[in-house]
Amino acid sequence: MIKIAPSILAADFAHLAEQIKQVEEGGADLLHIDVMDGHFVPNITIGPPVIEWIRRYSDLEFDVHLMIDNPEKYIESFVNAGADSISVHAEATVHLHRCIQMIKKLGVKACVALNPSTPLDVLDYVMDDIEMVLLMTVNPGFGGQTYIPAMTRKIESLKKKIDDFGKQIDIQIDGGIGLDNIYEVTKAGANVIVAGSAVYRSDDIAGTIQALKSLAYGE
Ligand code: DX5
Ligand code: ZN
Repeated sequence: MIKIAPSILAADFAHLAEQIKQVEEGGADLLHIDVMDGHFVPNITIGPPVIEWIRRYSDLEFDVHLMIDNPEKYIESFVNAGADSISVHAEATVHLHRCIQMIKKLGVKACVALNPSTPLDVLDYVMDDIEMVLLMTVNPGFGGQTYIPAMTRKIESLKKKIDDFGKQIDIQIDGGIGLDNIYEVTKAGANVIVAGSAVYRSDDIAGTIQALKSLAYGE
């Protein structure tokens, strides 16, 4: 099943609860929450307190993408705030395996995120422990960037790697996805699609989510 995960990074933060309700009613499958620390990426967004507040206004699965250095220090706070899944960047910690174990122990889904230039090999010894891989298809830090074409090959390689491994692991794609290229990434093997500006910068949020879903299946 293909899932659409609108990213609140492109939402109007002055009306966050309403903006979340709009995607929830519009058919979003997950809510993608981008956490940036100004170290790992050159931008700063939100932390656990904001997540704790929005948790009261939404039943959507909260998919928390940590673009922060040393994520192990904060994993527990994000889970306590209401995260349902946590993505940690392999590049942001020297203890990736430990981070994943921490996430699992706290009872939420563990996911590994990779920057565009990071090889897939870093996944080799953690495949057993993760439920999703997040491939960045732009350099992390900002919404509204352009999809990096070489990432289509990377999605295909990851799909093959997961199939060879023989376990169901979701492939999430994040950055530069819209109506014009969603089919390119789903055809390559992606099944969880983050869309920030494509959803929130459109005049018809629900219509865009539905259109993304149909196009994702090549319809
Ligand atoms: C970028 C973030 C993305 C971002 C995607 O660092 O991880 O989730 O919100 O935004 P769009 O869909 O506009 O590229
Ligand atoms: Zn993200």
